[in-house]
Amino acid sequence: MFALRSAPAESDSRSYDELLAQARALLAGERDPTANAANLASLLFHCLPGLNWTGFYWLRGPELVLGPFQGRPACVRIPLGRGVCGTAALDRRTLVVPDVEAFPGHIACDSASRSELVVPILGGRPGDLQSAARVLGVLDLDSPAAGRFGADDARGLEAIVAAFVEATDLG
Ligand code: SME
Repeated sequence: MFALRSAPAESDSRSYDELLAQARALLAGERDPTANAANLASLLFHCLPGLNWTGFYWLRGPELVLGPFQGRPACVRIPLGRGVCGTAALDRRTLVVPDVEAFPGHIACDSASRSELVVPILGGRPGDLQSAARVLGVLDLDSPAAGRFGADDARGLEAIVAAFVEATDLG
């Protein structure tokens, strides 16, 4: 049985190395997307300090649709290009938003959220360069603290998303 290790005091690159190892161990031996996304959302929510929401949105046609998450109930559908999630998915890049109120078009699912980090989930069949940059969805993290996320968080979570993509059958 997988055991959660205690939360790091702050999320620096060293604690992200440990969190990546925990994520790999948690996902090993299972390739189901719902199971892996649900467990990864829980791992991140409980191990990273200062979060009020952590979860997945999957790209379905022209919009993102809510997937497994931890936190309060959230907006179900986000059009591509809208909000922080839709912008990260459209631009295929990680977005760190220190103050959500200053982000044009931010979608407030939980009024407690003050800062946000969104990592696009890019996937494709091994060896198929055409599909390698295909957006499958996003991983979204929210915090009630302004400026909660920085470059270490972006790098660390990009590595964890890459491990998730490698470990999971995402279609
Ligand atoms: N704030 C996001 C919407 C998703 S919730 O934060 C869970 C956005 O602007 O895309």
